[in-house]
Amino acid sequence: MPHPPVNVSTLRDMKGAGKPIACLTAYDASYAQLLDLAGVDLVLVGDSLGMVIQGHDTTVPVTVRDIVYHCRAVARGLRRAFLVADMPFMSYSNPSQALDNAVRLMQEGGAMMIKLEGGDGQIEIVEHLARHDIPVCAHLGLKPQSVHKIGGFRVQGRDASQAEAMLSAARRLQDAGSDIVLLECVPNEVGASITGALEVPVIGIGAGPGVDGQILVLYDILDITQGRTPRFVRNFQQDHQSPLAAIEAYVQAVRDRSYPAPEHCFS
Ligand code: KIV
Repeated sequence: MPHPPVNVSTLRDMKGAGKPIACLTAYDASYAQLLDLAGVDLVLVGDSLGMVIQGHDTTVPVTVRDIVYHCRAVARGLRRAFLVADMPFMSYSNPSQALDNAVRLMQEGGAMMIKLEGGDGQIEIVEHLARHDIPVCAHLGLKPQSVHKIGGFRVQGRDASQAEAMLSAARRLQDAGSDIVLLECVPNEVGASITGALEVPVIGIGAGPGVDGQILVLYDILDITQGRTPRFVRNFQQDHQSPLAAIEAYVQAVRDRSYPAPEHCFS
């Protein structure tokens, strides 16, 4: 019997049951099929495609058109996994622009939820999207679209006041209507405390073991990415014969909590 498609309630139930949510990025139909076969719960068409597909140094050049194109391809490959699409840089600078672009990602791209890099400045936007029944994932912690403003890719929330501000932003984003919060590059304690404080699922990338689910960039776990990878990346390809076996190993490691190990975490 094929598993029923994952939806927002499935993800909430997984949080409630303490079952870790396995998430990965994808950018095309062939890999999307493998992710589905391997049992990945949530697939993100991330603006990381600017780096791993287009070869840019950051995610900043990615456009709504790029995400729509890749999202359509990924949607064709999925049967079960929940599909989330990234809102690119400057595609949600005010509520009505955000709504127009979110509608494109859902109607033209086939996304079931949109993700935006948020904070207190995005509360009004999230409220506006939620009022129009657009499911939202709010991305906190390291926000790669702000890389030029923050001066590089670095761990966020290490000092107490920053951690407190992140927790308060997460609460406000949940109250505004976010259905998922994603935390990138934060110390374990920050990941665990935000997860404990929220009712919605919290997905982490470099946020330690205390979150409700894990996400990584597909090309990082398949050892395709060249050069230095972030500390939280684990190469799942090295012990496996095929990409499908590597992705299955990732899902298993998320489920049994052997990933992330201490060497993938920040303190
Ligand atoms: O763009 C992306 O792939 C992401 C993940 C790294 C979470 O935002």
